[in-house]
Amino acid sequence: MSKWTPSSWRQKPAKHIPEDYPDKKHLADVEKTLSGYPPLVFAGEARRLTERLGQVAMGNAFLMQGGDCAESFREFHPDNLRDMFRVMMQMAVVLTYGGGKPVVKIGRIAGQFAKPRSSPTETRDGITLPSYRGDNINGMDFTPESRVPDPERLLKAYGQSASTLNLIRAFSTGGYANLRNIHKWTLGFVGDSEQTQKYQELCDKITDAMDFMQACGVTPQSTPQMATTEYYTSHEGLLLGYEQAMTRIDSTTGRWYDTSAHLLWIGNRTRQLDGAHVEFLSGVENPIAMKIGPEMSADDLLRLMDKLNPENIAGRLTLIARYGHERVARELPVLARAVKASGKHVVWSCDPMHGNTRKTASGYKTRPFDNILAEVKAFMQVLHAESCWPGGVHFEMTGQNVTECIGGAKAVREEDLSSRYHTHCDPRLNADQALELAFLIAEELRANRNVSKQALAS
Ligand code: PEP
Ligand code: CO
Repeated sequence: MSKWTPSSWRQKPAKHIPEDYPDKKHLADVEKTLSGYPPLVFAGEARRLTERLGQVAMGNAFLMQGGDCAESFREFHPDNLRDMFRVMMQMAVVLTYGGGKPVVKIGRIAGQFAKPRSSPTETRDGITLPSYRGDNINGMDFTPESRVPDPERLLKAYGQSASTLNLIRAFSTGGYANLRNIHKWTLGFVGDSEQTQKYQELCDKITDAMDFMQACGVTPQSTPQMATTEYYTSHEGLLLGYEQAMTRIDSTTGRWYDTSAHLLWIGNRTRQLDGAHVEFLSGVENPIAMKIGPEMSADDLLRLMDKLNPENIAGRLTLIARYGHERVARELPVLARAVKASGKHVVWSCDPMHGNTRKTASGYKTRPFDNILAEVKAFMQVLHAESCWPGGVHFEMTGQNVTECIGGAKAVREEDLSSRYHTHCDPRLNADQALELAFLIAEELRANRNVSKQALAS
């Protein structure tokens, strides 16, 4: 077996990495520049996330990962970041209350740009151009110039990631995330919705409990966990030239960390055992995740797990199941059983988005809310039945009032999709739908509290 280095992936077949940069030297120069830029995250933070996820793997915490399908230069705005942050905080409150366990919060944010595409080209009105591949590669406009990969975009994406992360750190530790502010995380445009009402009622209960605790001497001053929050970043580790440039040796441990995000995941289309993406992520110490989907065999999964987490560290590897609401109950049990029998630690998470995408008659990609919920419920049932902990969820969502997924309490209809359809890639839950889903999952967690305890003890 040849030795891992940050560039050993270059000897392996790599899917979904663009090869049509017109000026390869320009790309190499940009990657060199990036390799001298400051890290975006610290190794110690990534280690702490592994510990937190280790608690999820053991059934003592719940993971909530969410954010844009693809971040974009156009939607980069402090209000959008604030709204995403606060809807995730609201969801975390709801899930913590329902599940009675800590919630580990990870954004698909501050680096989630590059996309694998089902087709390398796109045809409109008889004209065929290369597909849009994410703002850090090429442009979304349907013109030949815009679709040419441009290395300068990597520098812009790095800059956007750095300032996004800076604002998130400020929100997390600068007072905004203080639990005494939970009432204020409500979003303006959902002011009158059923979800907001439910959320306000929950906040009242929590505030009562905090008043009581304060009278007993427990305050945000005495208990810093009440005054700040931990919020981690993640993206798909797709564009390996960029990831390599951001990979550095940690001076404390002498180990390699990819400092572009706390957690990186391998997509469903790039998880070949002998491929470049598995090679690259097998060698960095960050916690990592891997999407798993239809037709994966138990043998393949176990081989991948051996390669990605040979030391069986709890929290190192998260498996994100994305089957679709109809397939999950059929295909996941055999994998859950095999993993359980192997004695390997994993976090089981559910991505109910990517297996439930369909096109409407008018050509919009959408996802029905009911199918998203159905997949989460089926996922939980399967894992409970196999005595495993359904440890988390993975959503494509936004804090904005978009109309991209149909359904939900406010019933976005197919004919509404055109009104606020802003995504650069896949359809996202809007803020109201995301919060509604959190309430429904919280009910599920609450109903299953005893089942989980018994299952995990067995
Ligand atoms: C994604 O998470 O945006 C994605 C492309 O998902 P998957 O790899 O599961 O298709
Ligand atoms: Co997506």
